[in-house]
Amino acid sequence: MIKVLFVCLGNICRSPMAEAMFRDLVKKEGLEAKFEIDSAATGDWHIGKPPHKGTLSILDKYRISSDGLLGRQITSGDIESFDYIIGMDESNISNILAVSGGQGAEKTFRLLDFREDLAKKDVPDPYYTGDFEETYDLLSKGLASLLEHIKKQHNLG
Ligand code: 4NP
Repeated sequence: MIKVLFVCLGNICRSPMAEAMFRDLVKKEGLEAKFEIDSAATGDWHIGKPPHKGTLSILDKYRISSDGLLGRQITSGDIESFDYIIGMDESNISNILAVSGGQGAEKTFRLLDFREDLAKKDVPDPYYTGDFEETYDLLSKGLASLLEHIKKQHNLG
């Protein structure tokens, strides 16, 4: 099983959108049996809460299931057990490494670092910008490249 964890600050806007979109992408490629996909927050404000309505409406617009998305906070156990820990921006990466005391740095990545064509490497936080469409667009690009990277590493397809 290839275990992928998406991480943001609140786990109600960007990382649950990434989780749902990546699940959808992996399913479309017929690879769902090979993956375990989850998301988590570095903060503790939204534990047990559903995603932000902006994230839910974007997922609905693009016909992507939002089943099972509930806020939770990352643990050091997650950093041990997941194979790819994917933050949305630079501050997520520092917060993840603070939880793990620096462990897992070799498997912790910022999503848009998988895109050589984009100058900006942080996914802006729509909780503050209100622009969930921009988040969807950047996640689509980053997730497609992440999946290509994982497929190459694991000799899939
Ligand atoms: P996210 O956005 O990290 O993309 O889920 C946020 C959601 C909530 C808060 C901050 C960012 N908050 O401060 O409650």
